[in-house]
Amino acid sequence: MDLQSGLPLLSQQYTSLLKKNFLLSWRNRKASFLQLLSPIFFMFLLFVIDKAFQARYSSSTANKSVTDPGTLISPPITPCEEKFFVKLPCYDFVWSGNGNPKFQTIVSRIMANNPGRTIPPSKVLSFSNAAEVDDWLFKNPLRCPGALHFTEKNATVISYGVQTNSTSILNRGHYEDPTFAFQLPLQLAAEREIARYLIGDPSFSWSFSFKEFAHPAIESFSVVGSIGPSFFLSIAMFNFVLQMDSLVAEKENKLRQAMKMMGLYDSAYWLSWLTWEAVITLISSLLIVLSGMMFQFHFFLKNNFAVVFLLFFLFELSMTGFAFMLSAFIRESSSSNTIGFFGFIVGILTQGFVQAGYPYEHDTSKAFRAIWSLFPPDPFAQGIHLLSQATSTPEDNGVRWSKRGECAPNDDTNDGGCFVTINDLYMWLLGTFFLWFILAIYFDNIIPNASGVRKSVFYFLNPRYWIGKGGDKVREGGVCSCVGSVPPQENITPDDEDVLEEENIVKQQAAECMVDPNVAVQIRGLAKTYPGALNIGCCRKCKRTAAFNAVKGLWVNFAKDQLFCLLGPNGAGKTTVINCLTGITPVTGGDALIYGHSIRSSTGMSNIQKLIGVCHQFDILWDALSGEEHLHLFATIKGLPPSYIKSITQKSLAEVRLTESAKVRAGSYSGGMKRRLSVAISLIGDPKLIILDEPTTGMDPITRRHVWDIIENAKRGRAIVLTTHSMEEADILSDRIGIMAKGRLRCIGTSIRLKSRFGTGFIANISFHGNKLEQSPANSDATSTRNHETVKQFFKNNLDVVPKEEKSAYLTYVIPHDREGLLMNFFEELQNREEEFGISDIHLGLTTLEEVFLNIARQAELESAAAEGSLTTLTLTSGESVKIPVGARFVGIPGTESAENPRGIMVEVYWEQDDSGALCIAGHSRQVPLPPTVELPARPPLTRRRSLRRRSEVVDGIVIEPSQVNTVNF
Ligand SMILES: Nc1ncnc2c1ncn2[C@@H]1O[C@H](COP(=O)(O)OP(=O)(O)OP(=O)(O)O)[C@@H](O)[C@H]1O
Ligand SMILES: [Mg+2]
Repeated sequence: MDLQSGLPLLSQQYTSLLKKNFLLSWRNRKASFLQLLSPIFFMFLLFVIDKAFQARYSSSTANKSVTDPGTLISPPITPCEEKFFVKLPCYDFVWSGNGNPKFQTIVSRIMANNPGRTIPPSKVLSFSNAAEVDDWLFKNPLRCPGALHFTEKNATVISYGVQTNSTSILNRGHYEDPTFAFQLPLQLAAEREIARYLIGDPSFSWSFSFKEFAHPAIESFSVVGSIGPSFFLSIAMFNFVLQMDSLVAEKENKLRQAMKMMGLYDSAYWLSWLTWEAVITLISSLLIVLSGMMFQFHFFLKNNFAVVFLLFFLFELSMTGFAFMLSAFIRESSSSNTIGFFGFIVGILTQGFVQAGYPYEHDTSKAFRAIWSLFPPDPFAQGIHLLSQATSTPEDNGVRWSKRGECAPNDDTNDGGCFVTINDLYMWLLGTFFLWFILAIYFDNIIPNASGVRKSVFYFLNPRYWIGKGGDKVREGGVCSCVGSVPPQENITPDDEDVLEEENIVKQQAAECMVDPNVAVQIRGLAKTYPGALNIGCCRKCKRTAAFNAVKGLWVNFAKDQLFCLLGPNGAGKTTVINCLTGITPVTGGDALIYGHSIRSSTGMSNIQKLIGVCHQFDILWDALSGEEHLHLFATIKGLPPSYIKSITQKSLAEVRLTESAKVRAGSYSGGMKRRLSVAISLIGDPKLIILDEPTTGMDPITRRHVWDIIENAKRGRAIVLTTHSMEEADILSDRIGIMAKGRLRCIGTSIRLKSRFGTGFIANISFHGNKLEQSPANSDATSTRNHETVKQFFKNNLDVVPKEEKSAYLTYVIPHDREGLLMNFFEELQNREEEFGISDIHLGLTTLEEVFLNIARQAELESAAAEGSLTTLTLTSGESVKIPVGARFVGIPGTESAENPRGIMVEVYWEQDDSGALCIAGHSRQVPLPPTVELPARPPLTRRRSLRRRSEVVDGIVIEPSQVNTVNF
């Protein structure tokens, strides 16, 4: 079956990723609906706030058009209690000039003749002069709305002054105008009574009325224009945070990497996210405008629909680009909310400046304005400001589509002509969208991914990048991190003859540039060093983490139609080798050819991705997608023809027994089911090389056997690389096994060869007949003991071995390899004498692979402990302690020289591995005198005191070569 490539593959991947984005949103319905419905919710809040503002300012005519103002005729002095925010007891008015009886008369008439109400004397205070009034007012705030000051110029002229509390006050939606409420009534009363007094006619009167101007609404308060930008920013923030979260989650969970390894084009990836977010943005902007119209905001009704919609759409689109760009810097999706919150605060603050007219004015430099406008909420806030100004009064008709390139009506940004038009802002928002989007792709390439891999900062200068051939080599470490110096790889010749032979074969083929047609993967000196990095912490402390050689020169061939099993303890470097082969991490040294394609070249890697299927050590799956959707998606990305995808998906599901759970979300799968899905994904698209990193971990024995069958069947026509910690699995499935430890291949060969070379030998199990009915128990026991002893003697005499395990029913022997030649005759004779020895069954087998594994791992630990020179303390049963190198077998104890043992004593140390694989002391043999063959290093004779003191100290033990103690019987 030919896989798709080029444009058809791009389009196929794009459609499938778009579908995946839809499914992820659909499965995350609550958040998606909240995201989509947020415009209506926020618009409703704006509507409520608008109504509250309208109610608050209802008694003021500033926001209303007044065409026919009402008339106020001879207003009376109102009771002081009617003044807003007054303190009791209060006074209707106070006056000065009480030393003059004329004024007392005038004031008493003012009180008596007040229209509609006589003012009681208790509500009026008098003072002798204006200074006293001021003093009283200062000491008694909010107790009186106004004061009258009388002075007599001459007998016919009385002058007066009016003093009022001139602060305009709003109280629960009612506006108190001090001019109309207090000043004019006081003035009118004083004038009237002075005139009557001077004329001498107490009934003298005139009609007096006040009227405000007819005027259009003079104050342009608009809820949308003032607090709208913050609300619209909140709506955009929903999308912003969710967008970042989706992108970062795919990166964090290595899903993007897994898709890339399946051959995903970056262009398909970005286009699919862009399209999806553009659709969400489009719906969100439409909902904002439509709900704004629904709530009857003039802003939305009077401005042209397209003008308003485009502003919202371009703003949200630009925010999308910004979110994409930021996501390149975020490693954990949990950080998205923090970044979103931070962005929101910054947005609110900078929008506040924009509303105050900054920086869209002549006084600000162009460069600063440009920088300011890079943050999408700022040009957007200016756009909202212009559009709200254009509809600020009932007479304004907003901005027409055809006038978007002209100054918006009522634009107050400066005196002569406007500063920016709506069209300019469209251009800015569109420009910032492209800028952020391009930067998002750039940073995505140069910021290290989940595996710490990135491209060079100038990767785009490589023409191969533009023709889709990968371009630059990937690197490790952060863009600015100081990568520690990489320690040189040691060139170690393998100790093992098989490993050496394999290495020589590969080296020869590499030297001759020969590619063996039967070889699927040729690993040529593959080395991987994880670089240490320089971390600059607080207080300028620099900490350099050491570089680590995880794989130290691997030379091996993986043959076609074979399963190569890579074994090794935790941290041996198996996954690292796989990561190098699959391009997840770049190699430090050497190379590998997969079906002739080099993993070091980016073109080679893109070809390799078409040939391999990988089951990673840890499941890389979307929790929200079902098993079927996973397989469908990966099959599409791989390039399977659309007509086959459905049937192949069903077949794969059936193969791993997931048909019944095909439509269940992977997040609800058990660990074993997830593993099976991962195995199915690795097999999809008929790859020529399948890499399975611990595929059966967590599976029950039945499922495991079933997966073994699948792997066994998959061998035909393919090469398989398998890592596992199950020796049974390795034994059953492998054609060849390689055991790695500490980054190096320690042994290679078939299971039988490894067992025969690295096992302790053969295991013989001798079972005895049980109690015979006719025998009494005492007789039976005696016979059994006699049989045991005879057999033991037989083994000792012929093979010189003692039983490893002894039970009444059986004896177990480990027979070393060097006795292999004797075994044939020995067992023949044993079989012939079965009756005589009371033997019921003889079982002979090789040691297990597990034992081989443990031996190799222990050997590797020993080597590394020796290389590192690590020491540990051996405490003898006699109480003395000595320091010995980890792994040392025979140790002389200094200071134990005595008359009985003039050369001192020594022990054999037994070692074992703890849970983490590290070597620790299991015990030691009995203490024996040092044989004369052992040469101890010369040391100064110990005085008795020094000797006693040193006994309490931990002294260094003396390591003795095994060849020197051949004759010692421990
Ligand atoms: N990204 C990394 N940075 C630094 N060191 C790493 C990195 N990845 C792996 N290592 C180290 O490399 C060594 C080999 O790791 P690797 O994952 O290859 O082991 P493994 O053989 O697959 O072990 P396991 O059986 O536990 O899966 C380990 O010591 C590990 O700590
Ligand atoms: Mg691993």
